[in-house]
Amino acid sequence: MPKGSDFVVVANRLPVDLETLPDGSTRWKRSPGGLVTALEPILRTNKGAWIGWAGVPDADADPIIEDDVELHPVPLSATEVADYYEGFSNATLWPLYHELIVRPIYHRQWWKAYVEVNRRFAEETAKVAAQNATVWIQDYQLQLVPKMLRMLRPDLTIGFFLHIPFPPVELFMQMPWRTEIVEGLLGADLIGFHLPGGAQNFLYLAKRLAGQHTSRGNVGVRSRFGIVQVGFRNVRVGAFPISIDSGELDESSRRRSVRDRARQIRKELGNPTTIMLGVDRLDYTKGIDVRLTALLELLEEGRVDPEKTVMIQLATPSRERVESYIQMRGDIERQVGRINGEFGRVGHPVVHYLHKPVPRDELIASFVSADVMLVTPLRDGMNLVAKEYIACRSDLGGALVLSEFTGAAAELRQSYLCNPHDLEGVKDAIVAALEQDRADGRKRMRTMRRQVLTHDVNLWANAFLDALTHGGIAGGALMGSADYDPQEN
Ligand code: ADP
Ligand code: G6P
Repeated sequence: MPKGSDFVVVANRLPVDLETLPDGSTRWKRSPGGLVTALEPILRTNKGAWIGWAGVPDADADPIIEDDVELHPVPLSATEVADYYEGFSNATLWPLYHELIVRPIYHRQWWKAYVEVNRRFAEETAKVAAQNATVWIQDYQLQLVPKMLRMLRPDLTIGFFLHIPFPPVELFMQMPWRTEIVEGLLGADLIGFHLPGGAQNFLYLAKRLAGQHTSRGNVGVRSRFGIVQVGFRNVRVGAFPISIDSGELDESSRRRSVRDRARQIRKELGNPTTIMLGVDRLDYTKGIDVRLTALLELLEEGRVDPEKTVMIQLATPSRERVESYIQMRGDIERQVGRINGEFGRVGHPVVHYLHKPVPRDELIASFVSADVMLVTPLRDGMNLVAKEYIACRSDLGGALVLSEFTGAAAELRQSYLCNPHDLEGVKDAIVAALEQDRADGRKRMRTMRRQVLTHDVNLWANAFLDALTHGGIAGGALMGSADYDPQEN
């Protein structure tokens, strides 16, 4: 076997997307989302290889090396993009795991494509990984890869991390292929979730579903505190809350050029008293509609002054051919139009909305300039944007309005927490943030910064990889046992 890589990350997406320019030439550009934000610095430190899709159908790109990291593109046909990526990953699993904000669609053809593409990822990984290598598989698009890969390469140490919430048992039980998914995950040596609740849900399901096969003789599953015993193998299950490269962001946000740009942004907006900011992929889980409705009502009630307040909403395009995303974009753009139509003036809209990714330094300057950061998801595994905002506020200014239904809420207790389903509560949280006392705001920000700066993405990755390669769940919080029965709670 050729030497191969000792450390391999496998994710649906590479950290870069292949883009075709109008003249037919191609270039690589950063791909969207929190997974890439978190893993990119880890791979740069650990070297190794990254296996993933180049973001466009039928791209037959050769492996490339970037910053000492080997990138191995896995090709997907246009049909596979439609069935595996847009279909099963993002119209079945994504809404199911985000607790049915929209209704998941169960389609047998999509499932077949999911199995096929997961197999291709497993085969490519088997080729790239060195003997006894460590392989770290990422996220909901690749839940079958751990088992498929173990069958091809029993010498490997295999970890899996889920970047989105793992749903409550009664929701997961809807999934027609629930047993296959749980067994797919159990191919790993360590399965990581953001929060103990997700790990607990999984432990319960592993016992209930995978154990059903005992009578067929091959998969006897017993589980105890944080461990599932599959035949002679122990699969460990843990909670590892992900984070960001907070030191790097802190440093960047202190740069003179970034500070100047932050001041310039305020000036360009007409020096409003308050800048509110939202930064999201344009996704229905993010509650962009919630914050816009709250703003509209606050303006109508005279609790927010349109002459003194500006909201910026930066929205990266996402999954643009999936029906629920098309609908949501229309709804949000109508809301923006309505607020500006009723409360803006020529040259002075209340909401500034961009449907495009903004460059990193511009994003950091936006965080520095924002008096109130609005993070209002209906459900979010972690939400890195909330942590990025905190990391950028070395001046101890600003206030964070944060949904209770994000993983970040478990760590950022000094934010203005709100329930995004309770509109009056969201409005009150926004007003409290707008009116915060300066000394109180600095105290809150200092405490949250301590948390974010000491719990960075390196700590997360080291905790996971230590647990994976040395056993135990050191560093990651441990979860409950599979004897926990959520039906009884
Ligand atoms: P998700 O992974 O669901 O997209 P996260 O909040 O965890 O959500 O991560 C999103 C990442 O994408 C963050 O690093 C954030 O800074 C980045 N991002 C989101 N919106 C934009 C935007 N409009 N321009 C540039 N980067 C963005
Ligand atoms: C979330 C998911 C990632 C995904 C990212 C961007 O962060 O957890 O797996 O890569 O969103 O979504 P996309 O569908 O564009 O890859």
